[in-house]
Amino acid sequence: MGLAPESLVKRAKRRIRSYTILPLTYRLKYGDLGKYLAYSCYIPGWVQENESVALAQAVYSLPPNPVVVEVGSFVGKSAVLLAGARKLQGSGHVHCIDPFDASGDEFSVPFYLRVAKRRRIPLDQWFAENIARAGLTDWVKAHKATGQEVGKTWSTPIDLLYLDGDQSPVGARETYEFFAPHVKSGGMIVLHNTAEREYDPGHDGHYRICQESIRQPDYTDVYRVDMMTFAHKV
Ligand SMILES: C[S@@+](CC[C@H](N)C(=O)[O-])C[C@H]1O[C@@H](n2cnc3c(N)ncnc32)[C@H](O)[C@@H]1O
Repeated sequence: MGLAPESLVKRAKRRIRSYTILPLTYRLKYGDLGKYLAYSCYIPGWVQENESVALAQAVYSLPPNPVVVEVGSFVGKSAVLLAGARKLQGSGHVHCIDPFDASGDEFSVPFYLRVAKRRRIPLDQWFAENIARAGLTDWVKAHKATGQEVGKTWSTPIDLLYLDGDQSPVGARETYEFFAPHVKSGGMIVLHNTAEREYDPGHDGHYRICQESIRQPDYTDVYRVDMMTFAHKV
């Protein structure tokens, strides 16, 4: 049985909105970054519009040829912003670290699995597809592993570190301890899920790091956009 005419009209309207109006609106609002903000909008994930804009602008403003590290990429919603900002500037390396198996802290896993079930392809393939669709394959190096695994042997100085992987207090702290020492003086750290709010048990790892560690004398210019905290390393 075919779709009712109303459904066809509704679907057509949604497509026009998604593929034409949204990119146009974002371009008008955010300039060149709008293109990647629009791509990011179609990808499932957890970053919201204000956070996305702030993250993309922070990465866009880095000095030439920066190293950007994201821990916790899922299917690329925020990675598209990081890599898109660097493509516009014409330099940089973006490392995306994620086991791509929907694992993580106990609270988050059911949410990851619910999204993962929408497609019958592995998450790393879905991630690569989203990055390719945005024309960013050459700008991203994916590491299929946990932050802790990659962190053990990491040695490259980092210009911007974005932490959005394991949200448990232990997992988030371990990842932070591995990578934060590699952030350059004057470089940036960004942590998601850090707003002042009630947290479900075991889901406040990044919030705790902000309370305990993201402050003077180690960090300066600390600010928050919705759930995302930004800071410069002293
Ligand atoms: C909140 S999602 C990331 C969302 C993504 N940044 C976005 O904007 O859509 C967290 C991701 O981190 C992954 N993850 C969980 N534990 C991790 C760890 N120890 N190291 C790296 N990634 C981890 C999860 O499997 C999931 O894909």
